[in-house]
Amino acid sequence: CVLVLCWFYIFPGYRLPRDREIVEEVLRQGEVWQKNQTGIDVYRKLLTECCDPRRMFAVTKENSPMGKVLWYDGEFYHSHTVNNETYPLFVKGNPLQLPLKKCAVVGNGGILRHSKCGQDIDQADFIMRCNLPPLSKEYVVDVGTRSHLVTANPSIIEKRFQNLLWSRKAFVDSMKVYGSSYVYMPAFSMKPGTDPSLRAYYALADTSSNLTMLFANPEFLRTVGKFWKGRGVHAKRLSTGLFLVSLALGLCEEVTAYGFWPFSVGLDEQPVSHHYYDNILPYKWFHAMPEEFVQLWHLHKSGTLRMRVGRCP
Ligand code: CDP
Repeated sequence: CVLVLCWFYIFPGYRLPRDREIVEEVLRQGEVWQKNQTGIDVYRKLLTECCDPRRMFAVTKENSPMGKVLWYDGEFYHSHTVNNETYPLFVKGNPLQLPLKKCAVVGNGGILRHSKCGQDIDQADFIMRCNLPPLSKEYVVDVGTRSHLVTANPSIIEKRFQNLLWSRKAFVDSMKVYGSSYVYMPAFSMKPGTDPSLRAYYALADTSSNLTMLFANPEFLRTVGKFWKGRGVHAKRLSTGLFLVSLALGLCEEVTAYGFWPFSVGLDEQPVSHHYYDNILPYKWFHAMPEEFVQLWHLHKSGTLRMRVGRCP
């Protein structure tokens, strides 16, 4: 076990490999990938045992009846008690037709730019995207057009749509690009996020939009966070992408991840931007994306999921 990543597994506290070491490791592995059904089954079982994604990924009328206390997963000692205002907004039960077959989880990494992965992504049966990403013409060839689930952070509603106080039309119009997706919002993760999430719900409902709002269940987010903490991901909060990959591993028969590359150089050793649409970096200590990548790469190497980090054929 001479590879850098193996070293990291044996001595998790040692240090993360540098960007260039990751590039070397990925190049060494090459395009080779072999599906490992046992690995897939094992991970689905582990995730089912810890986090029960089928039943728990969204807040539903079944798992969150009136009077149920939802503890915010991103804050201590804050809770929301399900009441007359919130209960009617929850879907009845898990609305997804399970199991999902081929799933694509699309991160927002700059590595997608010029990847030509759009067609590949669009061929999946269920496509998950993060944080209302742009899908305009210029990106289609690299990221595709279809979506079935897209996450929306309440902070985007606040910043991009002025909290929906007077930008409801702009919001609803901009959401049309996601077709009839589920919009997955962590409404009960941080207290200041609840109101914008409810407003987003009403903005879509009032315009008879094709989109369906699903509120992320804070209990699910917490258990998934613990799951990865136990596997060496030490961050204040997991990145949206890792939440979605975890969800996909629990719900899908096959998972391919695109756009996960939190490094400053690409496989051609050229600089790569943080996102495929801009180069705005995240708060340094909030997420631990490189640690997350190491875990995902480990799953790729074991055939449990497939990571697409180069150009698509
Ligand atoms: O909100 P957050 O910072 O988690 O995500 P984002 O920047 O909108 O990107 C979506 C997801 O793509 C992240 O949560 C990461 O999992 C992944 N990502 C990555 O792996 N490498 C990057 N350079 C950028 C994003």
